[in-house]
Amino acid sequence: MSATIIDGQKIAEEMTAQIKKESSSLLPKPGLAVIIVGKDPASLLYVKKKEKACQQVAFYSVLIELPEDVSELKLLNQIDALNQNKKIHGILVQLPLPAHINERLVIDSIYPNKDVDGFTPINMGNLLVGDNRLVPSTPRGIMKLIESTGVHISGKHAVVVGRSNIVGKPISLLLQQHGATVTMCHSRTHPLEYYTKQADILVSAVGKPKLISGSMIKKGAVVIDVGINSLNNTLVGDVDFESASTVAGFITPVPKGVGPMTIACLLENTLYAYRQQHL
Ligand code: GUN
Repeated sequence: MSATIIDGQKIAEEMTAQIKKESSSLLPKPGLAVIIVGKDPASLLYVKKKEKACQQVAFYSVLIELPEDVSELKLLNQIDALNQNKKIHGILVQLPLPAHINERLVIDSIYPNKDVDGFTPINMGNLLVGDNRLVPSTPRGIMKLIESTGVHISGKHAVVVGRSNIVGKPISLLLQQHGATVTMCHSRTHPLEYYTKQADILVSAVGKPKLISGSMIKKGAVVIDVGINSLNNTLVGDVDFESASTVAGFITPVPKGVGPMTIACLLENTLYAYRQQHL
């Protein structure tokens, strides 16, 4: 193995310690509400981690667990109550939602100043025009991981695999803002390796276990693996770590790469939202 492992866990712990320090004197405490609909085990695990992180930094946190068959109206009413609740500064609805619920409608009902996921059209639009406020946590975390390597982004070719609203689209905008030339690949891109092999910075966020092998990576590249996939009862990323780490210059592991950064950036966004609401 030649690649340097990017320790997302350590960077996230440092960020969390800083957030704890900054918020220790704040009263009332920053408050985050997380809503989960249904009992998907992976989603439940993620929201419990978010709740635990709030406890670590002494934020006020509320976890609202709704049944799989909850009506769209009930969910919207719940969000409206949180929009009005002065103790809550951030609202997060864990995705995906069950098929009978209109995801866009639900996201759009969150007040933009409490939208700590940065998924509302207002926050997404601000990001698009380069006025970064509440920026989605995973892409923000990815930028911090890339910056931690010391590799300059400006002038580099960044290739993003995946075009989701949560990761692919916002990370491509952030990389572009930092001066990268960005290529976006997705399920129709063919052949994928033609593009990935050109990447100085490669970000994969598609949720396909071991999609990217070492032979698809440029020597010395920064490789960021956003995938969290279960394969034969073990957690693997979109990148085949074993072969990729012989070629890449820097690589994130799965777990302990991007995942902890998403949570640390969510805490940062909650603190930012709190400050905006207490100006
Ligand atoms: N599901 C997967 N990632 C995320 C995220 O960052 N935020 C929310 N709300 N749901 C998700």
